[in-house]
Amino acid sequence: MNLFSGLLGLNVMIRLAVLLTGSGTTLENLFQRRDAGTLDAEVAVVIASRADAYGLERARKRNIPAFVIERKAFVLPEDFSAAVFEKVTAYQPDLVCLAGFMSLLRIPEAFTHRVVNIHPSLLPAFGGKGYYGHRVHEAVLKTGCKVTGCTVHFVDNEYDQGPIIKQRAVEVLPDDTADTLAERVQAAEREIYPAAIQLIAQQRLKIVGRTVRVLPPS
Ligand code: GAR
Repeated sequence: MNLFSGLLGLNVMIRLAVLLTGSGTTLENLFQRRDAGTLDAEVAVVIASRADAYGLERARKRNIPAFVIERKAFVLPEDFSAAVFEKVTAYQPDLVCLAGFMSLLRIPEAFTHRVVNIHPSLLPAFGGKGYYGHRVHEAVLKTGCKVTGCTVHFVDNEYDQGPIIKQRAVEVLPDDTADTLAERVQAAEREIYPAAIQLIAQQRLKIVGRTVRVLPPS
């Protein structure tokens, strides 16, 4: 399916490939939104970059094909990415969702603007190599920021850089630890990630240069 054909209001179920490295709470949230009928997207395949990723269990419990392609089995990101996208392509997803996926990818041309990510900060702050998971919240606290948040964006060949789809701000409280801050940021992530995917499913996004415009519902 062409996600940007502009066929507004077309209410179809899109197919997702979900890539993850860790516990998979982001994946679980997508399952729950789909179950609740608020997300028109079904997970067709899950791929983990580590064999011990609990997200694999979450997928298998729902009888969703789940595979391990270990990052450490490859030297070059190009080779790792080629293996990942070979598997992804076999399941013919409309969209690839990174859900706590901690490795750099080289995006094949056919997947330009068809890969999205959720990042636990307000990009472009606290993004790039080395900024992932709790490290992001620790850096936010160390810097003394009063506001942080999360960002959904299209993925290109650099860490945390493609066009931004949605962001939500979260206040940093005086007594926050990385854990308490992560908890509130992740609550915001659970709202904006499915909401962004739903906009894609409804073909309501238009990319103009680096800017993503949201078209009104038909
Ligand atoms: C999420 O908070 C996500 O924003 C973050 O990893 C966590 C994954 O949690 N992603 C990044 O830091 C990407 N740079 P999960 O494994 O429980 O879904």
